[in-house]
Amino acid sequence: MDPARRAHYLDALGIDAYRSRSRRKAPDASWEALRSEVAVCVKCRLCETRTQTVFGVGDPHARWLIVGEAPGAEEDRRGEPFVGRAGQLLDSMLRALGLARDTVFIANILKCRPPGNRDPKPEEIAACLPYLMRQIASIAPDIILAVGRISAQTLLGTDVPVARLRGRVHQFGPSGTPLVVTYHPAYLLRSPGEKRKAWEDLKLARSAIDGRRAG
Ligand code: URA
Ligand code: SF4
Repeated sequence: MDPARRAHYLDALGIDAYRSRSRRKAPDASWEALRSEVAVCVKCRLCETRTQTVFGVGDPHARWLIVGEAPGAEEDRRGEPFVGRAGQLLDSMLRALGLARDTVFIANILKCRPPGNRDPKPEEIAACLPYLMRQIASIAPDIILAVGRISAQTLLGTDVPVARLRGRVHQFGPSGTPLVVTYHPAYLLRSPGEKRKAWEDLKLARSAIDGRRAG
């Protein structure tokens, strides 16, 4: 049985022993194979302009999965998501929840930087999304935090604006993983007045996870 489904059934039964053990396991072979596959991917034209792919960072058995849009200039240089200014804001928001960066997993919809940080093209998202889906199935997170419009609309398959998607708990995929939408930290840097709402979203995400399993 696929790990996400198994976890889902164990959740339904109120059994969490398997998950807490599995969280301490080293990443498995298929995870490393996925990482290697992404590193040499040429499925869309962004491979021509990237410095390197940005697979994601953190605990492969994390309870929290943060999904952004795509690498920016700094991320493309360093091979790690959310390391620029927006990343620093994301880190401090996570810290405010008591979450260190290495206890969550952080990934993006696209693994390669769109030149000039333009929006991802639909064909790029279509080409890259299977990698994120495999990451989600492997991590089997307890909560997905979709940051920004591209992430939220892609994961939920909708054109509804972020302002109307935030503020409630969605369900993602067949396992019904709770998914909360919030503003992108780059947007919050431009509109600091919205930070209070983003904090509400993070608290909502935490209450969703707490409702799912104690601790
Ligand atoms: N913005 C994103 O959406 N992702 C990153 O990794 C960096 C900035
Ligand atoms: Fe491959 Fe995704 Fe990079 Fe496109 S963005 S080349 S699909 S890894």
